[in-house]
Amino acid sequence: MIISGSASQSLAAALSAILDQPLAPVTYDQFPDGELLTTTEFQGNRALIVAATTSSKTHIELLQLQDAARTAGASEITTIIPYLGYARQDEAFAAGEPISARAVAEAISPGSDQVIVVNPHADTVCDFFTPPAEMIDAASLLAQPLPVDLSDPLFLAPDENALSLAETVRDAYDAGSTDYFEKTRLSDTAVEIAPSDAEVSNRDVVVVDDIIATGGTMSEAIGVLTDRDADRIYATCVHPVLAKNARLKLARAGVTNVYGTDTLERAETAVSVAPKIAEAL
Ligand code: R5P
Repeated sequence: MIISGSASQSLAAALSAILDQPLAPVTYDQFPDGELLTTTEFQGNRALIVAATTSSKTHIELLQLQDAARTAGASEITTIIPYLGYARQDEAFAAGEPISARAVAEAISPGSDQVIVVNPHADTVCDFFTPPAEMIDAASLLAQPLPVDLSDPLFLAPDENALSLAETVRDAYDAGSTDYFEKTRLSDTAVEIAPSDAEVSNRDVVVVDDIIATGGTMSEAIGVLTDRDADRIYATCVHPVLAKNARLKLARAGVTNVYGTDTLERAETAVSVAPKIAEAL
């Protein structure tokens, strides 16, 4: 049976259809003091819990669903985390900081027999879990929503770390070339992009990243491409967080369209990671 967290309901339904597994009834309630009460009428032995941990609330929901499933008799619990919140704080970047990715992984581990995480920023995040943990790379799916008539497309990574994602999308699209910009992060929301010498004039460009959070990285890259007379500019990512004024930043920079997957259920969600998760089960 599939048990869905509140932030992953459409993805859980898509997975249910592919696996032909029923969706457990779940309610997401809250006490007057703000504490959560997440309940499920789970039945059976094997529980597949699908829960993006987009917020503190959804983290707690996941822990409650794990416990509720175990209490209802589940003997095997697979925790599927389409989007793992705090994954980018995978080290202490300054004195006194926590390794938040480790902290959340250690909280999720005891309630899981197996963990599956979609593009957790760095594969090494999986090492923080105690049960076997597997990373799924959904990047190849990002080619699907792109127009079929891209002209001499360039698949561009906004920093060197995202180059392998851009290469995966290029390979899945089966045309075009790849390049990357060099990024320096100045603050939580501001980045500086050092342009490569890639020729983009009159070409369609697809900027590929694992996540668009504040939109700082993506909008800087798109701004450079606009200034260099790129033709259509698409922003694509696995996790469309799109916090605060990210959409406005992207639009002002000159983006043609923004696409993401359903690891986060947003207006920009254009493709489902359900088939990739099903393959891993
Ligand atoms: C960083 O290494 C990531 O791959 C993303 O580029 C970054 O997290 C995006 O964040 P933002 O949208 O806030 O610039």
